[in-house]
Amino acid sequence: MKVMVGVSGGIAAYKAVELVRALQRHALDVRVTMTDAATQFIQPLTFSALTGHRVLRSLWHTPDSPDAPIDHIAEAQWADLLVVAPATADLLARFAHGLANDFLTTMYLATPAPVLVAPAMNSLMWQHPATQANVEILRQRGVRIVEPDAGQLACGMVGPGRMAEPEQIANVVLAALGRSHDLAGEVVLITAAGTREALDPVRFLGNRSSGKMGYALAEAAQSRGARVILVSGPSALQPPIHCELLRVTTAEEMRQAVLVRQPEATIVIKSAAVADYRPVTVAAQKMRRQGPLVLELQPTEDILAEVVQRRIPGQLIVGFAAETEDTVEQGRAKLLRKGADAIVVNDVGREDIGFDSDENAATFLTLSTAIDLPRMSKRKLGDRILDEIVALRRPQSLLVELSSAELESLREQAPAPRKPILIE
Ligand code: PMT
Repeated sequence: MKVMVGVSGGIAAYKAVELVRALQRHALDVRVTMTDAATQFIQPLTFSALTGHRVLRSLWHTPDSPDAPIDHIAEAQWADLLVVAPATADLLARFAHGLANDFLTTMYLATPAPVLVAPAMNSLMWQHPATQANVEILRQRGVRIVEPDAGQLACGMVGPGRMAEPEQIANVVLAALGRSHDLAGEVVLITAAGTREALDPVRFLGNRSSGKMGYALAEAAQSRGARVILVSGPSALQPPIHCELLRVTTAEEMRQAVLVRQPEATIVIKSAAVADYRPVTVAAQKMRRQGPLVLELQPTEDILAEVVQRRIPGQLIVGFAAETEDTVEQGRAKLLRKGADAIVVNDVGREDIGFDSDENAATFLTLSTAIDLPRMSKRKLGDRILDEIVALRRPQSLLVELSSAELESLREQAPAPRKPILIE
């Protein structure tokens, strides 16, 4: 979703930087427009560097061609929401009285999008009947006012007039956009893509995971307010902006990264396709073709099981299961064997979903439930999986209460882990 941030000329203009970053953390596409006065407080370059878009300021920009769109109209149509922070007394007056003497005020008149303003000014200016009348006019026209806080102001006075905190403004923006913010305060550790185990300097054992499922989960979690740590095997995908990306190659590197960051996480989601075996030895030089080749492989560590063993109180742990037959039964066996809170089982034998596809379908399995998530885009599925994870936190959906002896006996019934194999 697209948000235009308008910055007018008050000392709180520097806080607009934080607002832009907060909005980007929620995976919103942000552009900035500034009044001339705002540029006295902060350079447009700061915003263009942060957003990757030029900062729009002038009505008198000469278009590249006669049929090029008119900037302030095009931008007014582009935005899903306009938020002005800080909004000075002068800006509120110009909005209230329909003046259109710069880019921001002109765009305000031309936009069909919802408008939010976060006023910031000296207390006396804020309380002045003229300002309050302007605020009332705007409120009556549907403009949402993010009330200023009271406190020490830049002028030394103490009272109302300090701009609301950027995080608070961002929350109002998200609510106005109808965006769920139910993962605010959570730290979600997600693994994505496949790992690679070297055979020699040029070859490896790998798998078909592209990272699309894990990256979609990362984007969905971030847009719902979580801080995301994404541990990714090799992938050509761009990670969502502002999520912390840790690149790894082998299963052991993924294990190290996950275990080091696990204590920070409130939710761990293991969607990576981790190698189950690695070569016992890695050839120092490129192997030559000399008839049949026998590879000796040893099992890798089971990262998910280890994460479960090291679970910190309250941490939710969700694994994936990539299956090609009896998917739900196999998924349930994995759930029991690994001891996760839930397993997302998907059929990787199908061409239309699973590996490298833009779509997926899955069953979200807990000890007591099996929720069918039909075929949809991986991004949408990411949200549906997160819905189910959030529901696990709710008291009414607590898993059936099993004693530790019952759990142990269920685990014993699950198929045993695989032994080392030889591939010929
Ligand atoms: O990346 P895409 O192209 O979008 O494809 C998505 C996907 C098909 C890879 C994804 O949806 C998926 O199924 N991921 C899990 C793949 C997998 O390794 O499944 P598994 O059944 O072999 O492993 C079960 C669980 O144990 C997984 O959470 C896995 O991360 C974990 N595991 C496995 C082996 C190992 N050594 N350590 C682990 O932690």
